[in-house]
Amino acid sequence: MKDDVTIVQCKDVSTIFGLVQKFSDCFTPPITSRVGDLHLYAAKLQQNATLYCLKEGSEIAGCIAFYCNDVAGRTGYLTLLVVDEAFRGKGYGLALMKTMFQVAESCGMKSIRFEVSANNRVAIKLYLKCGFTYEKESQLDKIYMCKTCDETGAFTVD
Ligand SMILES: CC(C)(COP(=O)(O)OP(=O)(O)OC[C@H]1O[C@@H](n2cnc3c(N)ncnc32)[C@H](O)[C@@H]1OP(=O)(O)O)[C@@H](O)C(=O)NCCC(=O)NCCS
Repeated sequence: MKDDVTIVQCKDVSTIFGLVQKFSDCFTPPITSRVGDLHLYAAKLQQNATLYCLKEGSEIAGCIAFYCNDVAGRTGYLTLLVVDEAFRGKGYGLALMKTMFQVAESCGMKSIRFEVSANNRVAIKLYLKCGFTYEKESQLDKIYMCKTCDETGAFTVD
């Protein structure tokens, strides 16, 4: 990975709004059509989720958002992972996933799960590479994937 790559936590709602707005169209369907009001969505993420963005120099190349607030069940939930098309294939998606693993471990999460479109071949390949396994089929063309920490509490990637 290039020397000028940094991964920083994003905490303020205006930055988070900027990220979801920037990346909305990278998803099918776009985030806007899935959640409706992007301001409300950004506020929900700001209150409950942990967000990091990856920068190459001063350019925002991608971001990840996940929940690590289930203290009873100790299950983390990945809700958003995206890398700008111009920056794909450089290991940035994997780097963002590794950041989530470190944070989830430090928060005491025991597993991480999420739902993904069954036809999102690229993302599923990344998740399999990270050690996620298929958990169950959910509604329509969605599947759940899950990864459990090892005996030391770490989420390792081979
Ligand atoms: C999924 C996504 C985040 C991957 O980001 P990325 O930075 O390009 O991924 P990386 O460069 O870190 O690649 C990591 C691994 O993912 C897989 N991968 C990435 N791009 C791939 C491609 N075009 N074809 C097949 N596998 C691919 C590979 O296993 C790769 O590892 P390898 O290079 O050792 O083979 C990016 O494609 C994206 O933002 N997609 C649109 C949004 C989305 O679908 N998000 C997930 C929603 S659940």
